[in-house]
Amino acid sequence: MATESSEMVFVQDPANPQCPNLPKRAGPDQIPDHVPPELILDAGLITGAEYLQEPHDYMAAMHEKFPPVFYNVSPFGNSWILTKHEDCLHVLRNAETFRNLEAAPFPRDPNDYFFFIPQEIDPPHHRKYRNIVDPLFCPAGVAKLEGKIRQRAGDLIDQFAAKGECEFTTAFGRPLPVSVFLDIMGLPQDMLPTFVEWADIMIHSQDPAEVGMAFGKAIAYLKGAIAEKKANPDEGVISLIANASIDGRPLSDKEVFGFVCFLWIGGLDTVYATLNNIWLWLARNPDRVQEIIDRPGDMHKIVEELLRRYSVTFSSRYVTHDIELRGVRMKAGDRVMTCLPAANFDPDVFPDPLKVDFDRPRKTILAFTVGVHSCMGGHLARLELRVALEEWLKRIPRFSVKPGTEIAYKPGGVVGPAAVPLVW
Ligand code: HEM
Repeated sequence: MATESSEMVFVQDPANPQCPNLPKRAGPDQIPDHVPPELILDAGLITGAEYLQEPHDYMAAMHEKFPPVFYNVSPFGNSWILTKHEDCLHVLRNAETFRNLEAAPFPRDPNDYFFFIPQEIDPPHHRKYRNIVDPLFCPAGVAKLEGKIRQRAGDLIDQFAAKGECEFTTAFGRPLPVSVFLDIMGLPQDMLPTFVEWADIMIHSQDPAEVGMAFGKAIAYLKGAIAEKKANPDEGVISLIANASIDGRPLSDKEVFGFVCFLWIGGLDTVYATLNNIWLWLARNPDRVQEIIDRPGDMHKIVEELLRRYSVTFSSRYVTHDIELRGVRMKAGDRVMTCLPAANFDPDVFPDPLKVDFDRPRKTILAFTVGVHSCMGGHLARLELRVALEEWLKRIPRFSVKPGTEIAYKPGGVVGPAAVPLVW
């Protein structure tokens, strides 16, 4: 249980999940005494007007505007914010001191609690869950999906290539990861329009009731699919999880659901937001598109640099015992948010950070975090991105943003333009 004292003890029993009731500090009335007043600042992230003008430019500029460690006060939750690459690496690589409990920002019924697995499970249990699905998500596992992803990407583009225009998000950015997800999970492709609709509402709707309804429908569907895969196992991920055992016992219903549900959350909006950001950049930079076309042998490093330049999300942790970071005292129960896009713009590590430079010296990028919780779908996401680029540029090598379009960013924990209308 968390206190303001020197240590927090986490008891985590994933098979019998209890709501951890960690301290939730929000707003100016809930700033702990140990936070120095000069470090209390408004980060302006997620909802700030300046941030929403151009979120990535804003996060690059954080290195000049803010100290490297500061305390952000927000109605959505108070937290230390870290922007330096080195500090983020330190936090993300120290799972003992910085824990992942309640890392997923989705409310659950405290009386019927479940963990989002594996994201909210800390060592030593965490690895056992990842071992179940690692054969499918490791580089060799996802390499087997390349042909299918290529086919899905090509089929989608063929539907609109001759029209000379499309709204990228609805035509390609969202359906591609959803169709790949359906394949991996072992779900039928005719669910694509429904999954796209749910994902769209969950990502874009400003109406909590509507979001709740879409999430509820997805939950009901996933629970039905889990029951079906228990009865009739197949090769897909749902079946693998539903029929898995750890420590010599089958996974409980809550473990299976928490795992399948987190894959659904983790694998959809992150990929689509990344695609949206990158296609907007391509549409605005035809000379760079030509450079990509001219360097087919460099696709891996091209994808890596685009992931650095357009990383889309953040990682938060709880501090378990009193520490000092860059001379700043943090106490057990404090929340720390590593601003991954800002870390990817740290000028000490990536000089001229906003420049897309495919020939940068190789450095650890933080789009997928690092450490025990590094993204399980990272290899899949890289593959989807590479194949999407290759298949698109083969068919539509020159395109631009539709004249008169205003690009808008909506508040949310995943950063990307809401729509990208294109013409060619
Ligand atoms: C460009 C696309 C993606 C980005 C930027 C991304 C980003 C991330 C980040 C930053 C984390 C760490 C969260 C934390 O530290 O608390 C994470 C974890 C995770 N991601 Fe992704 N992700 C992407 C795609 C995917 C896909 C396609 C899947 C699966 C189909 C996936 C599944 C997961 C899972 C299961 C975790 C939890 C890993 C763990 O805690 O051990 N992600 N992702």
